Amino acid sequence: MLSKLSVRNLVKAYPNGNSGITQVLDSISFDVSEGELLSVLGPSGCGKTTLLKIIAGLLEPDDGQIIVEGQQVETGHNRVGYIFQQESLFPWRTVRQNVEFGLEVKGVSPEERRRRSDDIIKIVGMEGFENHFPHEISGGQARKTEMARSLVVSPDILVADEAFSNLDAQTRNYLQEEFLRIQGLTGSTIVFVSHNVDEAVFMSDRILMLSNRPARIIAEYKIDIPKPRVRTSQECLAYRSKILDILRVEQQKAMSESKLKPTVST
Ligand SMILES: Nc1ncnc2c1ncn2[C@@H]1O[C@H](COP(=O)(O)OP(=O)(O)OP(=O)(O)O)[C@@H](O)[C@H]1O
Ligand SMILES: [Mg+2]
Repeated sequence: MLSKLSVRNLVKAYPNGNSGITQVLDSISFDVSEGELLSVLGPSGCGKTTLLKIIAGLLEPDDGQIIVEGQQVETGHNRVGYIFQQESLFPWRTVRQNVEFGLEVKGVSPEERRRRSDDIIKIVGMEGFENHFPHEISGGQARKTEMARSLVVSPDILVADEAFSNLDAQTRNYLQEEFLRIQGLTGSTIVFVSHNVDEAVFMSDRILMLSNRPARIIAEYKIDIPKPRVRTSQECLAYRSKILDILRVEQQKAMSESKLKPTVST
């Protein structure tokens, strides 16, 4: 079967400010099927955001390809929607104006913008808040508005960067369920970056685990539990404990390596 998204041999390094480089991605390759929710888990600073930015065409890799539905896409393409790690709503725009932003950029008529923003605002459950500004809504509602803003342009693929961090546990759990419900309605293919093992096990069809920088794929788990899942079920807890064991080993490696060689230089 044709993959919706293929990531092929991505390599990326950044200048480290000391006339050397920091190698961040080390030949990352994976495929995502249509409608799949793939989570990427990895230690802080390993290169998850870098990976998503390259997939979304916001950052150029040093080497490797991004292939959408069998066709290679170049940096700057707009086939992938993005939910950013930091809150990124425009503070001077209302909820509706934020949601319609991508449609405005595409030159969609005001009537069509209104129709599409109405639909998606309903889907994410933000009706009644269309005319509120970001400072007048909660953190959870801001995340839903960002989801709506990404989905309104009907992207083939959505990447979400720690979409629910900095929220209390209850809101986080609620938004995870909402996110799955919305995916059920839109059929989106999703790459979801997370720090949180419970979240990844609860939501994902498959989980990729990245090593410390430079990131390589060190393990892959298909989560064979029917949805909706029960977070505290034996099956979820079994995946959780396997994954946590691997993360613990990576963390220990990182701590011992950082004592030996804090940065990579050329
Ligand atoms: N524009 C940049 N210039 C130089 N170095 C960068 C740049 N962006 C990221 N880095 C470095 O690349 C590494 C990976 O960063 P990235 O943001 O991709 O990690 P991450 O896995 O998303 O981390 P976190 O879990 O903390 O969000 C880090 O060491 C970071 O300091
Ligand atoms: Mg990040």
